[in-house]
Amino acid sequence: MVIKTAEFVKSSDRWQDCPEPTMPEYAFIGRSNVGKSSLINALMNHKYLAKTSGTPGKTQLINHFVINESWFLTDLPGYGYARVSKSMRRDFEKLITNYILNRKNLVNLFILIDSRHTPQAIDIEFIEWCGENSIPFSIVFTKADKLKPTVIAKNVEHYKSELLKTWEDLPEVYVTSAEKKTGGEGILDFITKTNEF
Ligand code: GTP
Ligand code: MG
Repeated sequence: MVIKTAEFVKSSDRWQDCPEPTMPEYAFIGRSNVGKSSLINALMNHKYLAKTSGTPGKTQLINHFVINESWFLTDLPGYGYARVSKSMRRDFEKLITNYILNRKNLVNLFILIDSRHTPQAIDIEFIEWCGENSIPFSIVFTKADKLKPTVIAKNVEHYKSELLKTWEDLPEVYVTSAEKKTGGEGILDFITKTNEF
């Protein structure tokens, strides 16, 4: 897919305030600081479209962008950010889960996982929750530039075997680096294939 236009539409703090669901939508989610906003910028070939930060908890609202005037791309707040109060964490979780459960035009959720880590309970729980609620998703490993390819491959296999304990089939899996701009084509091809417009 060639990205001709990528425009910010709005930030919302409730799913009810998101733009009218007039086009297919693809959202990026994952733990705080996993690299959601950076990956969006790399995919869109745009340095500053989504705001990024070295400090976790940067994205706190639901951010909508329109790509090629034909589909929505959504940057979501991270889950599991330890340094905010419990009630704030619950508010974030409610915002995210309400958005996912109610957004009628959501075609796919890209769940981002840091490729450096062993399977984390919070990610596995979130993936299970998606399964229980029949939410279509793919898994995207991030920050692949930080480790040797052999180590990445081992970590990805470890993750897959963890998921295969409860899942019969695995969804699409992508290995990416926003820094080196690698692995994004697979994601854009998937969007082209599933985008009805
Ligand atoms: P929140 O909005 O806080 O939930 O974070 P986020 O998931 O949007 O992460 P963000 O894109 O802001 O990136 C967090 C940090 O990781 C920043 O310091 C980025 O520069 C860094 N980062 C993101 N992607 C990569 C990558 O592919 N490689 C490397 N080396 N660093 C990355
Ligand atoms: Mg962000």
